[in-house]
Amino acid sequence: MSSSRKTEVLQLLRSSNDYVSGQQICESFGISRTAVWKIINQLKDEGYEIEAVQNKGYFLSSAPDVLSLSELKSRMKTKMAGSHLLYFDEIGSTNIEAKKQAENGAPNGLLVVADKQNQGRGRRGRSWESPAGMNIFMTIMLRPSFAPDKASMITLVMAVSVAQAIADVTRLSVGIKWPNDIVVNKKKVVGILTELTTETDYIQHLVCGVGINVNQTDFPEAIAATATSLYLESGRKINRGELIEKSMEHFEENYEIFCKTESMEGLIVDYNSLLVNKEAQVRVLDPKGEYDGISHGITEMGELIVEKADGTVENVYAGEVSVRGIYGYV
Ligand code: BTN
Repeated sequence: MSSSRKTEVLQLLRSSNDYVSGQQICESFGISRTAVWKIINQLKDEGYEIEAVQNKGYFLSSAPDVLSLSELKSRMKTKMAGSHLLYFDEIGSTNIEAKKQAENGAPNGLLVVADKQNQGRGRRGRSWESPAGMNIFMTIMLRPSFAPDKASMITLVMAVSVAQAIADVTRLSVGIKWPNDIVVNKKKVVGILTELTTETDYIQHLVCGVGINVNQTDFPEAIAATATSLYLESGRKINRGELIEKSMEHFEENYEIFCKTESMEGLIVDYNSLLVNKEAQVRVLDPKGEYDGISHGITEMGELIVEKADGTVENVYAGEVSVRGIYGYV
């Protein structure tokens, strides 16, 4: 059976709030009753709970937390972000795969998702722990028309989008630690890594990779004080497919707003309202010298406005420095 047929049946069941008759499925896809029955059984084997009632048909009552191409495709309603999808049970890094796909002509908005990475990459050359079966590792590839100096703002656009998606799905109180870490209860749950491929003065393509600690139950000692998962904070297992779907919905909407002005102008209110280090004491780790100040949110270019004790104001650009709380990570 083709996996695209399975995706279509799943999509049909998902889009209906009521039972879908076997007849309707047969007619929608021009397949036999036996074929429908086989698809339903395969979905059940994968953990989908499908109620089958005589004379009424099939009803999808719950979906398992499995990532698969069918699961993801059947959820995606976006026009651009994630409208083309690749899924891997295991891969080196979704960022690297997305770049490779870009080189081979993949379309704008391609989303690469993996259940596990064996060479997950973090910022500043660090690695990103990427165990199987519990977290989200995904990368969107874009072919923007804006200039390379605007690209660092995409991480901010993604941060707002994923934070909004987490709030939708978990109801947790979620915040952003400038520029793009997402935190819950002062601990990091999401990291974002944007990488550019440029040609003198234009962007060939850009990949924005997102790692979300979703259902992880414990963390290595080295990061346990600053890292957490949505499961640990909410006390319930979170469906990864749903979170990917919502993240792409919000990203599509926010990216469109961003592209209108090629700035954070239309997103600044949303971003600042999520910022955990707004009107807070921060320490700016500038390679030219550390200093403390009060952060007043971001500019339209995504820089952090920091007022020093002597009253002077610095607009801090994310590329050069990182910012910490005075007493710790946030
Ligand atoms: C950070 O250091 O905070 C950024 C971490 C980014 C991790 C994600 S997981 C999906 C994508 N693929 C990678 O190799 N890295 C990013």
